[in-house]
Amino acid sequence: MFNIIVKGGTLPDGRVTDIGIKDGRIAAMEPLEAEAGEVIEATGDLVSPPFVDPHFHLDATLSYGTPRINASGTLLEGIGLWGELKLVMTTDEMIARALSYCDWAASMGLLAIRSHVDTCDDTLKGVEAMLEVREQVKDYIDLQLVAFPQDGLYRDRTARENTIRALDMGLDVVGGIPHFERTMADGAASVRDLCEMAAERGLRVDMHCDESDDPMSRHIETLAFEAQRLGLQGRVNASHLTSMHSMDNYYVSKLLPLIAEAQVSAVANPLINIMIQGRQDTFPKRRGMTRVKEMQAHGITVGWGQDCVLDPWYSLGTADMLDVAFMGMHVAQMSAPDEMARCFDMVTQANAAIMGLPDYGLHVGAQGSLVVLDAANPVEALRLRPARLCVISRGRVISRNSRMDAALNLPGRPATINRRHRTS
Ligand code: FE2
Repeated sequence: MFNIIVKGGTLPDGRVTDIGIKDGRIAAMEPLEAEAGEVIEATGDLVSPPFVDPHFHLDATLSYGTPRINASGTLLEGIGLWGELKLVMTTDEMIARALSYCDWAASMGLLAIRSHVDTCDDTLKGVEAMLEVREQVKDYIDLQLVAFPQDGLYRDRTARENTIRALDMGLDVVGGIPHFERTMADGAASVRDLCEMAAERGLRVDMHCDESDDPMSRHIETLAFEAQRLGLQGRVNASHLTSMHSMDNYYVSKLLPLIAEAQVSAVANPLINIMIQGRQDTFPKRRGMTRVKEMQAHGITVGWGQDCVLDPWYSLGTADMLDVAFMGMHVAQMSAPDEMARCFDMVTQANAAIMGLPDYGLHVGAQGSLVVLDAANPVEALRLRPARLCVISRGRVISRNSRMDAALNLPGRPATINRRHRTS
């Protein structure tokens, strides 16, 4: 007797199977005739493990336009605007906005999020708010919180002390922003300092790293070196790495093997990268996204992150990781069939590996969490960004949606489609 059986869905690798879920876990993946509390008919539909976002800012989300918009569209004006906003936003407002976003995420099958939390505020009200959110969503969303000294570990007078306090309060991951420190030397020192903090506490590291168009912003080199020196291999992620877009090719040929050796992963954030980077260029304008395919060719795990939704840096966004992957595949020119399929893998399996999620995936013994999509396969899902027909988290159906069928009534001839642009 299963709690739920999902019948006849197509897995991302093309296999067709039933999935039996019992006591919050996947208990069987084979043709099932057993009884179940609920049977979900998924024949012809893609059944995927949940979407995962390894880079987000839940403390700032859904604040777009408060107190004003980012007129220049730059990273620096966004940081300045957030600096004004965080002083006046209350803990309750932050909690309410973050919970609204988590509801959006749940409806889109996005069930694991790594969120950076600003620790440059002596009250640490954002940290307090996000810890409350983590507690409130813990039964259906895996929320990892990164201690993130937004205004610079050394550049901001009390950031280091507050970051340590935030980690003591129970944040999960050590963050940083070396390219925002006052000097390259301070940036490198902050990387060393923060990696040592993580090693001492047994925590993972996820830094905003080289989010800049400056080809000489090379903190990733120090991050990879420190990961190896401190035995943090496989536990360090570098977010953004946009400067790599502009780096000298010879230098990159030396850098990529170093990152691979240190088992440092990378997250590109294509929506925000394509919107923010290259703002000071005339034409031709740089795309400002890191070298995704090139890193993957060196065996480096690369994921797609969302970064921002409706906040001081980004004025759009829907909590849909397929939107993120769709933009990423265009900017990185990942158009071959295996590259497109890999883009789907990046917002599921690769992102889960980056976050170190235990029991993730579709296999017997894994967490009983999955998404049924109105698409036949991963590439079609990327093309359509379709309805999430059913979202199951830990053995419980937490969201349902209907298909978006067009009701065509054409004069003179019958319609050729009955489902929104699906090919099968
Ligand atoms: Fe970020």
